[in-house]
Order: sequence, then structure tokens, then C-alpha cells
Amino acid sequence: MSPGSFPGVEAALSSPSRLKTWNPGSQSHGRVCRGSIIVSGLALSHPRRSDSIRFLRRGKWRRSPLKSRLYILAENRVFTQDGANPVPDLDQQRQRQVYVPAAGILPLNLDVENFKGNSSDLTFKEARKESPFEQEAWRLLRASIVHYQGCPVGTIAANDPTDASALNYDQVFIRDFVPAGIAFLLKGEPAIVRNFLLCTLRLQSWEKTVDFYSPGQGLMPASFKVQSVAAEEDTCEEILDPDFGEAAIGRVAPVDSGLWWIILLRAYGKSTGDLSLQERMDVQTGIRMILKLCLSDGFDMFPTLLVTDGSCMIDRRMGIHGHPLEIQALFYSALQCAKEMLIPDEKSHQLLTAVNSRLSALSFHIREYYWLDIAKLNEIYRYKTEEYSHEAVNKFNIYPEQIPDWLADWMPDHGGYFIGNLQPAHMDFRFFSLGNLWAIVSSLATPQQSSGILDLIQDRWKHLVGSMPLKICFPAFENEEWRIITGGDPKNTAWSYHNGGSWPTLIWQFTLACIKMGRSEVAYEALEIMERRISRDRWPEYYDSRTGKFIGKQSRLFQTWSIAGYLVAKQLLANPEAAAYLTCEEDPGLLDAFSCRISSKQPKKA
Ligand code: GLC
Repeated sequence: MSPGSFPGVEAALSSPSRLKTWNPGSQSHGRVCRGSIIVSGLALSHPRRSDSIRFLRRGKWRRSPLKSRLYILAENRVFTQDGANPVPDLDQQRQRQVYVPAAGILPLNLDVENFKGNSSDLTFKEARKESPFEQEAWRLLRASIVHYQGCPVGTIAANDPTDASALNYDQVFIRDFVPAGIAFLLKGEPAIVRNFLLCTLRLQSWEKTVDFYSPGQGLMPASFKVQSVAAEEDTCEEILDPDFGEAAIGRVAPVDSGLWWIILLRAYGKSTGDLSLQERMDVQTGIRMILKLCLSDGFDMFPTLLVTDGSCMIDRRMGIHGHPLEIQALFYSALQCAKEMLIPDEKSHQLLTAVNSRLSALSFHIREYYWLDIAKLNEIYRYKTEEYSHEAVNKFNIYPEQIPDWLADWMPDHGGYFIGNLQPAHMDFRFFSLGNLWAIVSSLATPQQSSGILDLIQDRWKHLVGSMPLKICFPAFENEEWRIITGGDPKNTAWSYHNGGSWPTLIWQFTLACIKMGRSEVAYEALEIMERRISRDRWPEYYDSRTGKFIGKQSRLFQTWSIAGYLVAKQLLANPEAAAYLTCEEDPGLLDAFSCRISSKQPKKA
């Protein structure tokens, strides 16, 4: 819907003083307002289109009349032309569930038809004959599709017929859908991705509360479910039911969701050539809200994002609180994608300035302080501690005693990697695959560092690829360390699950990084290892043991992102040029900023 579609809208937009503001934080009315109108950032109740608004109250769908009014969502404020609130007095208990379906005033514009976009780039797709494994994977991926109002909107996390307790694996996880969405994009079936992006955008703005506390406005859910609820006249109605972490194990907010959403949005535009989605007013607002949340001021001294344990793919306690690499790499990537997509206007001007300065500070910080190779390790080994002053070499006061025993032997003479986390007096020396791979994909790593990371993976193939690509992190915490750091988590015992388990889904990020660095043959090798058993093993979620020999102890079978990750890797290798939908190139402007910082960092001569 565009402002021009309805009389009076443009006039109202161009003269904000005519609009009365109403702050949705002020309780009950806001929920319905926002659930109703946030869909497109700008929505109308118009007599010809709809004369009532529907909402859930005490478990039943109800209607409330609406006069012809204009509602505009601008950032976190709702404006109405006459200032009146459309629906009074909502039951507090049910507020979280008020998701008002489209029904005229809330057009999500989902695609029932298989929308093809307008790109001619997609013609290469079907030229290749798919192997039997791929055909099986496609069949399984399609079987995991979730529909909302008759349209495909995502895929469930796992479709394991042997598992009676689905827990939350029957939900659409934002991060899990990314490889599935990319597989569909590369197949020339973008409708599901477009629908997914719009549905999750609608959920983003929902006011969410965990024990009376509301997290930030731009937060995207970790997952959502399509629920059937009782509606009027004994009928059923579908609603989207998100989980922002308020039901997740450990109650962690998914910091990565919004970052992946931005990355997928850009991939959608690049692969289909359809930029109209990213240019929509509501989508632009969504991008800005995520950025504002990430760029908001706090107590931080570092440009890296400070997050709690378990706020990404590793979504339970694993000692990654602070500034974990995975989040920083996704953050860097999302900032670049957003920069490309934001329409430069008055609203985004300041934001774009903030994005640029964060990009350069972040790349400097990670490249400089997270990078580890044999020379840097030796430097840390000889660090002086307790240095005070701007000239300090050991800025974070790292005690060399914390260098773990395994590291000196493990570090190859060539190559290196980004450490997992950096905090005052703390370096997490573990190797985390996703963070390192996405640092390559996003150009957070310099070209030399990117080559170095792939060198290290090749050098330590047995440890990181072994019988199944790819270790989520290396090495595992064992014994006392496991007990203290995971809190004695029986799912995360040594060399299992997040604690050194092997995750087949990571094959797509690995393939992408290899293609970007011109080393496709390395990805082929890993894929060949995967194909030896993944279908026979029924597409597990993860593998256990030092070399990934066993199907994981509590691993789901028919895990969607294992299936999708495999397909994306195959598709990318067949069409390496499609990697550009996801990769980012080094920005020369940032490089200049970087070299200025390096030279100003040199200790001044007396
Ligand atoms: C596990 C994984 C998480 C994934 C979810 C659904 O919790 O740790 O990354 O999103 O399962 O597959």
C-alpha cells in the first residue's frame, strides 16, 4: 500500500502537525492499534475496505467499529488523524496474543501464486540435473513448509516422525529458515522468502513482555508458530504466535534474528531483482528499528555488540556472553546490507552516519584484537600485565597464563583465526566456525585473514571437518570446565551439541566462504564427506564425538537446516556467481579509515 493510494494520506504525511500523537507504551489500546496497523508501517482503515477492526479478547475474536481514520506508524509512535483510540480496554492477560489477521485493513500481501520476481539471473537454475540426494533433500524441504492464510511463510525446524516431543522444533526459527530461504531463492521460488520477511516484520513490532519487562522495539522473534484459534461462529482463525525468548529455554533474546532478517532481505532483492520489497515504507522502518536497537548507546567501551550467553545459534549457556564473534560478524554483515538498502533521506541520514562509523570501528577492533596466529600468540605469551596508560600494549590486561594447553600445538605455522570472544582480562581462545566463516563472507576479515582462516581449517581438517562438516566450535569443554561453564548441562557434554558437536548446516556458510576466496575445491571435499552419510543417517541436526562419528545423542532427525544447508552448498557450487547475493566486498572508504586508525595507534616518539 502506498501513501498515494488513499485520499488525504499524502497531505497528512506532509503535514505532521495535523496528526495527534499517541504513545503505544501507554497500555491497552496500543496493542490492538499496533497489531492492526504495523503491518505496512502505514495502514488505513477505509470505509470501502473495512469498517471494523478485529481483535482477540478473553479468547474470542471481537470486532470494533472504525471510522475512516488514518493510522501511521512512525518508529515507535502511532499517529491517528483524530487522536481517538479505536479499541478500548484489552484484557492484559491476552494482550500478547492480539495478532489481528489481514482481513482488509491489514494486507500482508502474501503470495499465493509462486511469485517469480523480475530477474533474468535466475534462468541458470534448472539447467543442472539434480542428484538423487538433492531430489530427496528437496522433497524433505518442501514437506517442512508452513502455511499461513494459504501462503507458504517458512519451514519448521525439524520434521522428525520418530520423535514424539516436538518441543519447539515445530516452529519456524528465523535463523534456521535462512538457508531454506536461500535454497528457494536459488531455485527461483522467492514467494516463500517474501512472505517470511513480511510475516516476521509484522511480528517485530509487537510489544513483548517477559515478567512485566519489555525488551527493545526492533527485536525480531527467535521463532514463530502458526496457531489455529477459535473465532466467531465456531470457526477457526489462524494467528502468528511469536517467541521472542519469553518461552525459550533460558529466556534469551535472539540477537541474531534481526541481523539474519536484514541479510536475507538483501539476498532476496539481489537474487530476484525485485527491490520494491526493501523499498516499502514498512520494510524501511523495520530495517531502521533493528539498526536503532543495535546502535543504541549503552555503557560499552567497545564497538562490538554486548550480548548475553545463548543469544545466537548457540542458544544456551556455553560461556559466550560478552562480545561473541558470531554476533559481531553478523552485525557487521547486517550493517553493510542495511547501508545498501536504506533509502537515503532525512530519516536515515543520521542513521547512515552512525552505521558508517560503526562499520569502521568494528572492523578495526575485530581485525586488530580478535585475530590470532602463531606470531600473535607468541606476543600474548610474552605480554606484560597491569599496564596503565594509552600506550599499553596489553590493552585488555590478558594474563598469559590463560593461554590453554592445547593451543600452541594446535596453531599452524600458516594461517590463523578470530578468537571467540574478548573481554577485560579474558580471551576465549576457542575456534567458532560460524563467526570465522561469516567474517570471510562479510569481509570483516581482511583478504589475508580470510585466506588464513581457510588455511587453518585445511590444516586442522581432522579436527574441524573429520567425519562430518563442521565443528560448531573447537575444542570442547571437558570435566570441571564443562561443569562450571555450562552449569553441568547434560545436553552440552564434551564433544556433543554446542560443546564441540558437528553441525551439517554449517556446510553452506563454509561453501560460501570457500567460493569467495576462490577455493571451491575445498568445499567440494567437505560436501563429499557429508554425502557419504547424511541421507543414510536421516539428516541429523548434529553429530557427536571428537571427529563427528556419531549421530548426536539428542539430535533431531530430518532437521530442516541440515537439509537446506546441503542444498544451498550444492546450488552455490553449481552457480558460484550466486554467492554475491550474500557476500559483501571490502569498502575502500573503510580501508582508509582503518589505515588512519592504525597510524594514529603507533606510539608517539618522545
Ligand atoms: C537449537 C539450536 C538453534 C536452532 C534451534 C532450532 O536450539 O541451538 O540454533 O535455531 O535448535 O533448530
